[in-house]
Amino acid sequence: MVKVTVCGAAGGIGQPLSLLLKLNPAVSELALFDIVNAKGVAADLSHINTPAVVTGHQPANKEDKTAIVDALKGTDLVVIPAGVPRKPGMTRADLFNINASIIRDLVANIGRTAPNAAILIISNPVNATVPIAAEVLKKLGVFNPGKLFGVTTLDSVRAETFLGELINVNPSQLQGRISVVGGHSGDTIVPLINVTPDVSAKVANISKADYDKFVNRVQFGGDEVVKAKNGAGSATLSMAYAGYRFAAGVLNSLGGASTSSSGVPDSSYVYLPGVPGGKEFSAKYLNGVDFFSVPIVLENGVIKSFINPFEHMKITQKEQELVKVALGGLEKSIEQGTNFVKGSK
Ligand code: NAI
Repeated sequence: MVKVTVCGAAGGIGQPLSLLLKLNPAVSELALFDIVNAKGVAADLSHINTPAVVTGHQPANKEDKTAIVDALKGTDLVVIPAGVPRKPGMTRADLFNINASIIRDLVANIGRTAPNAAILIISNPVNATVPIAAEVLKKLGVFNPGKLFGVTTLDSVRAETFLGELINVNPSQLQGRISVVGGHSGDTIVPLINVTPDVSAKVANISKADYDKFVNRVQFGGDEVVKAKNGAGSATLSMAYAGYRFAAGVLNSLGGASTSSSGVPDSSYVYLPGVPGGKEFSAKYLNGVDFFSVPIVLENGVIKSFINPFEHMKITQKEQELVKVALGGLEKSIEQGTNFVKGSK
């Protein structure tokens, strides 16, 4: 019996993500929360012949707190794709002003109503919204770092797709053989492609120009979608797939499955000092940066361990340099997110 709540369920990501969750047989209840149209989306999905009972929760007005409380009561996992997406010319950081308070308020509700739930944050800028969530939960005295996940899976999905195109390999076979670490925006995103010998043989033949193009495309691939949608938002369908892939991993682990069975597991942007060995890892390799996306191993919905890319993988000089650049950007975003909550009442 697993209850999943989606906050922002009526949006471009929220709707297809909720559809995928409705199809997962492990989900017994799917609560959809949004400030608009949550009931409509819930009614629609509720006609699909799978076991999950779908409920829609939409506040009647700004003061109405019952909808969010009902959506969160007893939930095991909350996925948050709530907030505004990018328009052409915007960076993810430009979204901070609007999305920071949306995340702060939603996570405060989770902390009060469902303090044991796993929280998956999709809303951008992830590099800052996850530190916001951590700070809010700390303030409430319910922060469990093993259950707070910044969803960076789309970067892995893109890296698998673009590398597959480059080395002529079915991209679905590259899951677990390439890792993306760092953060989730521009040059904070660091693809590491030298994971397994079979892939690295083909990778060795990639020209420097093609490699640079590949890295740039993984880092800025989101811009291609924003530009093509021309004002109608950012990635929604590929994001719903990626968000579902990560959520399904958490659901599987709740059901007792290990996430480390095939290759390297998906990465997530997590609070390292709260993960076993994370503080030492950060001090040794990341100049003490607290939040970083690393491949994580889950057990029962909680981070059990992570894979240290610097020891587990053959990191090249170029990749080392990419990590260094990423750390600079991350430090600023983490500080921005943390200060936002510290300055809030
Ligand atoms: P959208 O505008 O289509 O949907 C957002 C939904 O959130 C809307 O239905 C809106 O009513 C709802 N919402 C707004 N305030 C809310 C609140 N206080 N409580 C509950 N719901 C609320 O946007 P889209 O395209 O679905 O993107 C959502 C977020 O996901 C954006 O911040 C976007 O930047 C981010 N994103 C993250 C990615 C990642 O890789 N982590 C990839 C793509 C987008």
